[in-house]
Amino acid sequence: MNEADFLAAQAFLLAVKRHWTTQRYPALRAMAQAALPADASAQQVAQYLEPTPAYQTFAWLERHLQKMKYSGAYGLAPYHDQRRDALLPAVEAAAAQASAAVPPRLTLQPNMPLPAYYQAVDIHQHPQGLATNPLAGLMYERGARSTTPMLGARHQDLHTRLTDVALGLCAQPPARVIDLACGFGKSTLPFAHALPQVPITALDLSAPCLKTAAWQAAEQGARHVHWLQANACATGLPDGSAELVTSTMLLHELPTPELHQALAESARLCAPGGQVVHLDFWLIRDGFDRFIYNGHSDRNNEPFMKPLFETDVVQAMAQAGLVDVQVLPFAEAEGVDPAAHPHWRFPWTVITGRRPASAAA
Ligand SMILES: C[S@@+](CC[C@H](N)C(=O)[O-])C[C@H]1O[C@@H](n2cnc3c(N)ncnc32)[C@H](O)[C@@H]1O
Repeated sequence: MNEADFLAAQAFLLAVKRHWTTQRYPALRAMAQAALPADASAQQVAQYLEPTPAYQTFAWLERHLQKMKYSGAYGLAPYHDQRRDALLPAVEAAAAQASAAVPPRLTLQPNMPLPAYYQAVDIHQHPQGLATNPLAGLMYERGARSTTPMLGARHQDLHTRLTDVALGLCAQPPARVIDLACGFGKSTLPFAHALPQVPITALDLSAPCLKTAAWQAAEQGARHVHWLQANACATGLPDGSAELVTSTMLLHELPTPELHQALAESARLCAPGGQVVHLDFWLIRDGFDRFIYNGHSDRNNEPFMKPLFETDVVQAMAQAGLVDVQVLPFAEAEGVDPAAHPHWRFPWTVITGRRPASAAA
C-alpha cells in the first residue's frame, strides 16, 4: 500500500467517524428523547432503540470503522507490517540506548508474567493487543491520533489538560511522579514537560509500548523518565514512591478484582499527603448515554468498561485507603460541557483522593 492511499483511506474513515459522532449520535438521542421520559433507564432506552435501523447502523459503524482503521485493507496493521524494516530500527535503537543509560531510562522485564485478561481480548480491536507484536507501540501511537475525532488542532491535548488538573489537585508540587499504564508515553510526556526537574516513573505491561515511549521521550528531550515494565496491580516499587500517582485510561481496562488491586497499589505508592489522580470513563449523564457506552464496551472490545461503570469508585478509593475522594467531570477540550454535550464523547472523569499525611488523618 502506498502512503497516499493509506492516508486517504484513514482520512475517509475519520470523516465517517466525525459524521457518526456529530450526526448519528445526536439523531439517536433525539429519537430516544422524543419517545421516552427524560429519566428513562439504559434498559428502557435499549428496549426502544435496539430494534431500530438507526441504532443498528450506528452500532455497525462504531464497530466496523474501528475494525477498518486497524485491520482493513488500508488499516494500521497492514501499513505497519509492510514498513516493519523501515520503522522499527529507530525505536529499537532508542530503546537500547535508554536501557544502557546509567541509571537506566528503560527497564524491561521479559520474564514478567502477563495477566491472562491482558492477552484474552484484542483490546479496542487492536489486532493481537499490545503485549507482543514489536509494532504494537507504533500502531497504537498512530491510532491514538484520531481516538477523539472532535479534538481539532486548536485544542490543547487532553493529556496536557489532565496534567494541569492533576498538578492543581496536589497540595504541593510533587517531588516524584508515577504514571501507571503509560502506554507509549502520551500521558507521561506532558508531566515530563511540565516538571522538567522531577523524576518520573512510567510503567506499563507492554514492552513494545515502552520502547516506543523511550523513543518518543528521546525525540522530545525528556531524559528524566524511567520507563518500566511492570504490572500496575503489583508494581514492586516501594511504599510512598511518589507524591503524585496518576493513570489515564487504565481503570476501564481492568477486570474488577484487578481494578481494586490497582487502586490499592496506587494508594500504597502514594507518599503520605500525596495525591492519586486517575482519569477514566465513569460519570454518565443519563440512561441514554449509559446505553450507548454499554454498547461501546461490547462493540469496541472493551469488556471491563461496563463493570467499571457498575463500581462505586468513591467507596473503592476509600477502601484503598484514600481520603477526600472526589469524582470530577473532565472536559477533554476547550468548550466541552460534560453535562450538555451535543456529540458523542467519552465520559471522561477524574477520580482522585489523597493519601492521609499520617495514619491518624
Ligand atoms: C488505553 S491505554 C492508555 C495509555 C496511556 N496512559 C495514554 O493515556 O495514552 C491503557 C494502557 O494500560 C496498559 N495496561 C493494561 N493493564 C495494565 C496493568 N495491569 N499494568 C500496567 N499497564 C496495564 C496497556 O498496556 C495500555 O498501554
